[in-house]
Amino acid sequence: MTEPVIGILGAGKLGTTLARLGVQAGLTINIGNRHDVADLKWIIDTMAPGAHTMSAADVIASADVVILAIPLSHVADLDPAALAGKLVLDATNYWKEVDGTVNRISSFTQSSSEVVQAHLAASQVAKAFNHMGYHDLEIEVDRHPTARRAMAYATDHDASRPVIEHVLQAFGFAPFDLGPLRFGLVLEPGSPLFGEAITPAEFQAKLDTLYASPFGQKIIAARGGKID
Ligand SMILES: NC(=O)c1ccc[n+]([C@@H]2O[C@H](COP(=O)([O-])OP(=O)(O)OC[C@H]3O[C@@H](n4cnc5c(N)ncnc54)[C@H](OP(=O)(O)O)[C@@H]3O)[C@@H](O)[C@H]2O)c1
Repeated sequence: MTEPVIGILGAGKLGTTLARLGVQAGLTINIGNRHDVADLKWIIDTMAPGAHTMSAADVIASADVVILAIPLSHVADLDPAALAGKLVLDATNYWKEVDGTVNRISSFTQSSSEVVQAHLAASQVAKAFNHMGYHDLEIEVDRHPTARRAMAYATDHDASRPVIEHVLQAFGFAPFDLGPLRFGLVLEPGSPLFGEAITPAEFQAKLDTLYASPFGQKIIAARGGKID
């Protein structure tokens, strides 16, 4: 597989951490936000040396895989045409401090990444990089080079799975396939899996009991008693 060029939209806590991990892994990392490139460049040169700072438009145009590391409520501002045909790894989560105290974007019947996929209808959206805090991402990769931590993902695009798994592995994680995008809800804030930095076996064990948890019960209730 040709090494995909990774574009990171968003240069905050998550974006800069992923940029550092990606550069460390030898990947080509292009990163940008809504600031002038000159304003952001010195930050990236300090936080993620080796990553290429560019405008958000150039990040999208140059990337094979685009990671969304922006507030969920800002995804609606993205131009679907610019992202058409791209594999998009949606790391966004609904976060009330940023996105508003009332969640008007996603629900127990529709995961936030399904909303992102509906907006970016011509992109291959996968939910990934959601359940681990930015501070843990780096620590866990360094601390467990062999017993890698599970990075769960979900997508409706089976043909994208090999590339997604390649990228997650390259960043230092053990890919954990949750299946279709609707199952990505189990990675969102409030879920017992949210915040977990654990091995695939530990992740599977928690997943096996998730639907007995209060969070899982809310999903089942919202989906008419079905979890498939
Ligand atoms: N922090 C974590 O541990 C963590 C873990 C997993 C997932 N997440 C999710 O990842 C996303 C980012 O979180 P964060 O903590 O990194 O937030 P953050 O520190 O506030 O950074 C957000 C970045 O997005 C940029 N941005 C906003 N709108 C943009 C747009 N339309 N185009 C390009 N860049 C844009 C912001 O820059 P400007 O506004 O200056 O352009 C900023 O660089 C959120 O959805 C969050 O829920 C975070």
